[in-house]
Amino acid sequence: RMVFVNGEYVPEEAARVSVFDRGFLFADGVYEVVSVLGGKLVDFAGHMARLRRSLGALDMEMPMAEAEFLATHRDLVARNALDEGMVYTQVTRGAADRDFLFPPEGTPLSVVSFTQAAALVDKPAARRGIRIITQPDIRWGRRDIKTVQLLAASMCKMAAKKAGKDDAWMVEDGFVTEGTSNNAYVVAGGSIITRDLSHSILHGITRAAVLRLAREARMTLEERAFTVEEAKAADEAFVTSASSFVTPVIEIDGLPVGSGAPGPVAARLREIYIADAR
Ligand code: PDD
Repeated sequence: RMVFVNGEYVPEEAARVSVFDRGFLFADGVYEVVSVLGGKLVDFAGHMARLRRSLGALDMEMPMAEAEFLATHRDLVARNALDEGMVYTQVTRGAADRDFLFPPEGTPLSVVSFTQAAALVDKPAARRGIRIITQPDIRWGRRDIKTVQLLAASMCKMAAKKAGKDDAWMVEDGFVTEGTSNNAYVVAGGSIITRDLSHSILHGITRAAVLRLAREARMTLEERAFTVEEAKAADEAFVTSASSFVTPVIEIDGLPVGSGAPGPVAARLREIYIADAR
């Protein structure tokens, strides 16, 4: 694979980042995952807007113009002949002597991008649906910033794996925040319910697209927090993200959701999302 490191394309074996990089020492960095379908970038502008916002919230600026990010994404897709998968981009506060204070102004930010091939459309998880467990949400209070500080989510996903399940939904004060790397939804009483935007969750780019498409299809939406009990009693549940698009949830904490099979609302949204993304 060819990867992008600070302005250069290099083979992954030759790519180097400093041991003093603040991404490595402090998780002082943010990232984006843009999916690629048929060699085309999905929702690129949305991901760039969120990257700018994440950086701004941490007192960093865009290290390159958006047009340069676009060129880098396209170059990586072409150089690696990527048809389906994603482009990962990480921006950190750069390398400096280890200090809790930010490095002096003018310290260059680090930018790393790489591709990852993956089947996104034809995925067994989407056909079968996924089984999830619930876990306490022990992450920090600014989950709207897409930082590389992912250990809490990683531990939740490991707990799911140890329990023989696919993923976890994180819970705070009895309400579901989101999945380990996706936004969470239930369908109940004919309406699609997903948590409203705040500092408690990541503002998913796929979420925004799916809500827009659901509105256009005249489906009923409610943006509000829902409880674990509500989720367990729901007709359907599903998650959205750049890597999973729309994926049905068929079991929560060992209890079947609805009939225990993927539901019609999730299936329809997945179909219209993919048609729109192509
Ligand atoms: N995760 N919530 C969390 C905590 C996430 O990490 C993600 C994305 C989402 C969905 O956001 P979007 O629709 O913009 O992908 C929600 C990416 C895919 C990842 O970490 O791999």
